[in-house]
Amino acid sequence: MGKEGLVLVSMFVLGFAGLFGCVLSYDRPPPQRNIYVQLSEDDDSTTPQQVHISMVGSDRMRISWITDSPTPAIVDYGTSPKAYTNSANGTTYSYRYLTYNSGQIHDVVIGPLTPNTVYYYRCSSNSAQEFSFKTTPAKLPIKFAVSGDLGQTGWTKSTLEHISKLDHDMLLLPGDLSYADFYQPLWDSFGRLVQPLASQRPWMVTQGNHEKEKIPLLHGRSFTAYNARWHMPFEESGSTSNLFYSFSVAGVHVIMLGSYADFDPNSEQYKWLQADLGKVDRAKTPWLVAIIHSPWYNSNTAHQGEAESVDMKKYMEDLIYQARVDVVFAGHVHAYERFTRVYQDKPNNCGPVYINIGDGGNREGLANDYIDPKPEISVFREASFGHGQFEVMNATHALWTWHRNDNDEKVTSDSIWLTSLLINSSCHK
Ligand SMILES: *[C@@H]1O[C@H](CO)[C@@H](O)[C@H](O)[C@H]1NC(C)=O
Ligand SMILES: *[C@@H]1O[C@H](CO)[C@@H](O)[C@H](O)[C@H]1NC(C)=O
Ligand SMILES: [Fe+2]
Repeated sequence: MGKEGLVLVSMFVLGFAGLFGCVLSYDRPPPQRNIYVQLSEDDDSTTPQQVHISMVGSDRMRISWITDSPTPAIVDYGTSPKAYTNSANGTTYSYRYLTYNSGQIHDVVIGPLTPNTVYYYRCSSNSAQEFSFKTTPAKLPIKFAVSGDLGQTGWTKSTLEHISKLDHDMLLLPGDLSYADFYQPLWDSFGRLVQPLASQRPWMVTQGNHEKEKIPLLHGRSFTAYNARWHMPFEESGSTSNLFYSFSVAGVHVIMLGSYADFDPNSEQYKWLQADLGKVDRAKTPWLVAIIHSPWYNSNTAHQGEAESVDMKKYMEDLIYQARVDVVFAGHVHAYERFTRVYQDKPNNCGPVYINIGDGGNREGLANDYIDPKPEISVFREASFGHGQFEVMNATHALWTWHRNDNDEKVTSDSIWLTSLLINSSCHK
């Protein structure tokens, strides 16, 4: 059986494994089923839906939305409600996947925009719905929400509700978005589920294994839906693929890596990463953050030994370490874990802090089993649904906190002050 066949089977097996997974210290919340978010009754085939935004360069925003029938790819926007002083055109795209035909996927980049400013906008000149977003700050401080392996269950809803209450500037998603798992209408449902948040703040995402959706003989391309629906600013960062890119925001340079793009030293991704790290100016972006899906460090029993973890780490850890990356966020393992600063499996004051935050709430449930005893480099680990907040205060200090969704559980959430490697002179070469 091919890898994809295995994926198909494991979809079902994992569903059950979640249900019967062992419970250790206390009753872990069980997984929940997908919720399917429908269009509302007032909506018709020209209603903009699944609206989400992402940052392009320092002062532009990409607006993405879908309509069932053709409508113009046009965004009207301005800084006061219903007063659209500007307008921009973009492109429309659709894709086929087996018997599924996607809606009209519109993609419009607007700007230049003023930092830290609320903009009001409408899509396809549809005046029935007005959206708004806040641009990111030009300078520190900046607050990121971080959540991986989201899915679209009741737990996902809970995670999104928690995130909606915090005044964040941007959401970072380390892969595994919709868990549509080949059933394309679930991509649409996911788009509708996240719209209230994703239309208000930029969502910067990278791909996970659930985005691949390649089926031998039937659908030969990988990432069809993901690339069509979640266009990230790769062109602007000199990348050749939507699967890996970077951007700078306030004083933070964020590198989105692709666990499922080639990463060996001859690969385009490797060469791009080398070049991108070479361009980082720590005077302008004192913080350097990398995001992957498949974690390089992980003391959960789930997802041990996968090539995307082991080989990618083997090839790329040195680049990340030499560049003095401050933090590496990952997903994939459905639990929370924070490591100390690490390089080559040992504590190292000049290595990145590794944080796995794949506990967004997808239907596969939590990864409850840990390797015992806990490795020395693992500081905090807990299998609960939740999200992270990364609040970069200034060039030297950032506060990382992890928040459990279920606040009834008597386990402390995690919180730590991080200092940028920029100020640790013993790490300078
Ligand atoms: C957008 O396209 C429409 C139709 O082609 C055109 O009339 C309009 O002037 C364009 N607007 C901008 C801002 O380019
Ligand atoms: C940076 O923020 C930290 C935490 O708020 C604070 O203690 C420190 O003094 C700040 N540094 C500067 C240079 O403002
Ligand atoms: Fe995953």
